[in-house]
Amino acid sequence: MSQILRDARKYEELMEKKLAKQERPEFHLSARIGWMNDPNGFSFYKGKYHLFYQYNPYASHWGSIHWAHAVSQDLLHWEQFPAALAPDNDYDRDGCFSGSAVTMEDGRHLLMYTGVSKEMQPEGEMKDIQSQCIAIGDGIDYEKHPRNPILHKEHLPEGGSPYDFRDPKLWREEDGSFFCVIGNCDKEKDGQILLYSSKDGIDWKYEKILIKNHGRFGKMWECPDFFSLDGKQVLLVSPQDMLPQGFEYHNGNGTLCLIGTYDKETKTFTEEHNQAIDYGIDFYAPQTVLAKDGRRIMIGWMQNWDSCGGNSEERAWFGQMSLPRELSIKNGKLYQQPIRELENMHGTQVKYENITFTDILKLDHIKGRKVDMELSIHSANTENIYRKFAVRFAQNEKFQTSISFRPYESTLKIDRKFSGSRRAIIHQRRSFVKNEAGEIKLRLILDHFSVEVFVNDGEQVLSATIYTDLAADNISFFADGIVTMNVVKYDII
Ligand code: FRU
Repeated sequence: MSQILRDARKYEELMEKKLAKQERPEFHLSARIGWMNDPNGFSFYKGKYHLFYQYNPYASHWGSIHWAHAVSQDLLHWEQFPAALAPDNDYDRDGCFSGSAVTMEDGRHLLMYTGVSKEMQPEGEMKDIQSQCIAIGDGIDYEKHPRNPILHKEHLPEGGSPYDFRDPKLWREEDGSFFCVIGNCDKEKDGQILLYSSKDGIDWKYEKILIKNHGRFGKMWECPDFFSLDGKQVLLVSPQDMLPQGFEYHNGNGTLCLIGTYDKETKTFTEEHNQAIDYGIDFYAPQTVLAKDGRRIMIGWMQNWDSCGGNSEERAWFGQMSLPRELSIKNGKLYQQPIRELENMHGTQVKYENITFTDILKLDHIKGRKVDMELSIHSANTENIYRKFAVRFAQNEKFQTSISFRPYESTLKIDRKFSGSRRAIIHQRRSFVKNEAGEIKLRLILDHFSVEVFVNDGEQVLSATIYTDLAADNISFFADGIVTMNVVKYDII
């Protein structure tokens, strides 16, 4: 083990002890210490889920990128393991960027990641060279392969950029063969996803460009994932530099899925539908795992590059993962539900049925910052539909965050402007939800510093971090017009 990795392991163990548990999310994985971005190496290995992540132990901003490592039985209670990878070789001295994991034929755990090293280019410019590397281990310690990097500029298609060549996502086919998809861009800096194959996970061969952006969704495509789901094939990507498209896609770093079919013989992906993955503020670079019981489970980084400016350097950790979500396809569209294991953490139920109200409403026992609450809303009067419904939470005299639905405008809005943020980052986002009769179902999951809203049984999700003082724990409702509502609420314990 290198000195750089040994130092990181010593440092994280020491520093973690200084952090109070209540200053963290409870059931969302957060940076052990320092900085966290993308989920990496999400896999089921030796009877447990393993999740690695982009990690700078030494500061709560992006920097010297290692791979942190966490392990869980239920995807909600995580144990932090020692850091798995450090930037300690020539080919990865400027960072061990994102990647993935699978189990090898002999039972060892294979990690594939992007090694970054800054090199002087012929035009006299220093640039990141990105290549793919592997490390093999036992679920705790990993050894980088002597033949690294195993995929580099020689393995790119004509015009493929060696500066933007990252984030391999591995999988194994039924016959045992290995495949991976990697993010890349062409001469025009337009995103494309490359496909590679291998017999043993070590010797890799370029197959083809699986799909090109053709200027539709942003520029460089980061963090691909590619898998079958409910008879369809899904490609997840996180494009940079997006332009907005209605309420579907927003400016900046976005995440989307392309749903279609895949012909394994000819390795041809045919697109049928595209859709945003999260309509909130903080979500990026999701990765999936196939659970033992066949569920396809996705976790994303519950932050976004465009809103990281909200971070305060005083906090010793920064970065959380989203709640793991079960994916499915209905009518050709992606649906997401909180993993069902969350129900094992439910406290006593609080239930209200057919509450009809106007203006502001508070309900006994409806409060808290670790909550799973489902609201079913409709207009009390079918002739005269209410104009606005809102639920406000993480609330006290000074602070609040809200979700509001305006049936006449077909918009659902998340607003954290009054959450205590002192930076001019994005605080609001809207999504398109059509129901002129005013019927909507909202499942809100609060965990200290975040909210995730699952709309209409997983048709949409909106995620946002809120670093509001934990003393702000009220929840209240608002109606402009007359609303009838059912509430089912659990504390998470
Ligand atoms: C996405 C990303 C990846 C890269 C990593 C670096 O958030 O930019 O493309 O591998 O972060 O930390």
